[in-house]
Amino acid sequence: MSLQPSEIDVEHFLAQKGYAICKHKVYVPGLSTGVLGKGSFGSVYKATKQGMPWAVKRMENASGLASAGLTQKEVETLRRLDGHPSIISLGEVFYEPSRDWVFIVMEFVDGGDLLLGLTKKPHLFDEALVRGMMFHISCGLAYAHEACVLHRDLKPENILLRGDMLPKIADFGLARIVGINYCQTAVGTPQYMAPEVPRADSHAPSGMYDFPADVFSLGLILRDMLSESTCMEWRLDIPVAAAERFQKWWPVGTSPGKQTETILALQREASGEVPGDRITAYQLCIELQELQKTNPMPCNLWSVQTKMPAGPPQRRMVSPEDAAEIAARNGFPKGSEVLIFVNDKWCEGIVEEISTSRCPGAAQVLYEDDDGEKVALVCPWQFAQFLRPSQWQEPGRSTNFRRSSSSKRSRSSRRTSALSTCKSAVSGAGRRLSALMRRDHLATM
Ligand SMILES: Nc1ncnc2c1ncn2[C@@H]1O[C@H](COP(=O)(O)OP(=O)(O)OP(=O)(O)O)[C@@H](O)[C@H]1O
Ligand SMILES: [Mg+2]
Repeated sequence: MSLQPSEIDVEHFLAQKGYAICKHKVYVPGLSTGVLGKGSFGSVYKATKQGMPWAVKRMENASGLASAGLTQKEVETLRRLDGHPSIISLGEVFYEPSRDWVFIVMEFVDGGDLLLGLTKKPHLFDEALVRGMMFHISCGLAYAHEACVLHRDLKPENILLRGDMLPKIADFGLARIVGINYCQTAVGTPQYMAPEVPRADSHAPSGMYDFPADVFSLGLILRDMLSESTCMEWRLDIPVAAAERFQKWWPVGTSPGKQTETILALQREASGEVPGDRITAYQLCIELQELQKTNPMPCNLWSVQTKMPAGPPQRRMVSPEDAAEIAARNGFPKGSEVLIFVNDKWCEGIVEEISTSRCPGAAQVLYEDDDGEKVALVCPWQFAQFLRPSQWQEPGRSTNFRRSSSSKRSRSSRRTSALSTCKSAVSGAGRRLSALMRRDHLATM
């Protein structure tokens, strides 16, 4: 495909900054020559400057983006991540006012992205490789978290692969550069977003989000690496035509291998519903190293040097006032008498506490079912599904309304034994109230 008029402008603007678009051997079907790919914000070009290859991302309608006025401090923060072997380093950022474009120059990587790898060559991703790759990705992420930088848009397309399969995280901090609101509306379907991240396409209340939101996305990337037939297997609403892009094509004679329970458990720990219960990126690095010691699987990536983070980021707490404000804004302040949906029925309960750390703004509800008193942590985005004001009557079931047998609880009769597993499920919706708590966890609210 020959250059379009706007592509000639791109070439011109880049030439003024000393970059030449590579027109040889860069041909992706359907895209102009020199374009490596297209994302939510614009196109990515391969260019050279003084003999060095670069990837240059051109973002359109830039005046609406925070990047046009990116502060020096923000650029410096992103620069602090430069030099980590698993993070794509940032070159320059420049604005072209006549076309309202921002150009972001990045380190160029030649092995394609992880989505392409997983779908076109799934047979390469046995557990040995998955462990090595996950180790390097989580090292990069933990390193950024230590520097207090969130990614906010982790997904397989943003993991680029070097020829030897060393993964590198791309677009670090980009959601910050472009402003999170823009990112949400532009991305449209937030398949990899943690439940606490505010969504443009939903009116459901959200909580505050922090480092665990990135870990949730990382856990879903790990799930994609371990899944047999498709990436994003948790999304059942993808139209058939679009779903093909995520399908894994196993070459004849190859098939998925076995996976250890440990790697599956790490995946679950990363993508749990309650942010404060998720493993940190730092812990994930350490656990993968340990696993490699106790149950080694050979992979060349273990000999690639990396920069280990020093530790996990500080766990942040919101003030009790802010947590109370979140819960109140979402309709269930401390002390509210509520109905909570557990084990297919509405039970009477009371909001005892509001979480400030495990899941800021979540309501700790004391309720009683047939076995006695229990406690559940309901996250803000679960309120609409699992909580109702105590006066609420289920539509169409006013005569046959199944509430729990007790009417009022006395604190002295509260059952204090630990609740080890979640048994509650919402019929129809198929979702589980996953945040049922053990009594001995309450101290970490
Ligand atoms: N630094 C890079 N080196 C080599 N190829 C890259 C680089 N950055 C991006 N690409 C290629 O360009 C494609 C498009 O990237 P882009 O970031 O614009 O879109 P995306 O990652 O699919 O979505 P998003 O806009 O949400 O990040 C990538 O999938 C990848 O193939
Ligand atoms: Mg990207």
